[in-house]
Amino acid sequence: MARILTGIQSTGRPHLGNILGAIKPGIELSTNPKNEALFFIADLHSLTTIKDGKERHENTLATAAAWLAFGFDTDKNIFYRQSQIPEVCEFTWYLNCYTPYPMLANAHSFKDKSDRLSDVNAGLFIYPVLMAADILMYDANYVPVGKDQQQHLEITRDIAIAFNNKYGETFVVPEARIDKTVMTIPGIDGNKMSKSYNNTIDIFLPQKQLRKKIMSIVTDSTPLESPKNPDTCNVFALYSLLANNEQVATMRMNYEGGNYGYGHAKQELYELIIGQMSGERETFDYFMENTSELINKLEEGEQKAREIGLKVLDRLKVKIGF
Ligand code: ADP
Ligand code: TRP
Repeated sequence: MARILTGIQSTGRPHLGNILGAIKPGIELSTNPKNEALFFIADLHSLTTIKDGKERHENTLATAAAWLAFGFDTDKNIFYRQSQIPEVCEFTWYLNCYTPYPMLANAHSFKDKSDRLSDVNAGLFIYPVLMAADILMYDANYVPVGKDQQQHLEITRDIAIAFNNKYGETFVVPEARIDKTVMTIPGIDGNKMSKSYNNTIDIFLPQKQLRKKIMSIVTDSTPLESPKNPDTCNVFALYSLLANNEQVATMRMNYEGGNYGYGHAKQELYELIIGQMSGERETFDYFMENTSELINKLEEGEQKAREIGLKVLDRLKVKIGF
């Protein structure tokens, strides 16, 4: 039995990049009977950037609803909010005291912002240690994440290995699972789709708003009549990620043939999303309207997660004399 663990921050509503890059591959792994999955909403991590409580609460529910909409089985697996097992903060404190300062000073999450140190809070600085606690407290074997999280996983492993060397086998040393076949999903401006770039497609928006968002995908100014290059177009790139081979080939022909505008391609992308994800959109809306059901599912998972986490916390405390 392998234990798979991953988290998504509740810094925004989940977007197509999160869904194709994390949620769908995660659910795929969780369906293997040999795996047990712990998937959580990293709401404590979101506090390093989001300060508005209402916003965080809504993002947390939306992130949970997205996992359920895509079919995450909460009976077989464990689903929880990071903040509801607050001992992870205690666990983080212990790990902090074993984490060398230069390791954190070198983390991209900090370094990228180190030219504006006045904007960096202490939480952001120890972000990787909280993440290590998230992983080590549940004896996770594999952590599916995007490439951007690779360094955080290395920090987690370094902390675990150094601790085990000093005190004997205490932590399971986790491995990152970085799926090279999952490409970086482009946003509406062609850069990596990310909540921080404000270029996301939220597939759970009401139809009219979703259509408007898709119509705002940036394209070049090739006139309607002229042939177009599908390989440099964001609309085509996004369509190719969702459509079947035949649909992709037809759109390619349309681009290359001329008299086919970007507006047509955007309309087809919109219709594809609406057609393909209608069930997921419905389930998402259902849970967002019935949040008590959603919270019940989380609370069940939180009990199970806590049971696992407290055992590892005890194991750690004994080693260090508490
Ligand atoms: P964001 O960049 O929008 O803040 P997160 O950092 O919360 O997204 O990412 C949550 C998960 O979704 C991670 O596993 C990350 O690798 C994945 N992910 C985010 N954006 C993309 C993207 N554009 N393409 C593929 N995967 C993505
Ligand atoms: N830092 C991760 C991200 O931004 C989210 C996260 C928090 C996480 N704790 C984790 C991912 C533990 C995997 C395991 O994507």
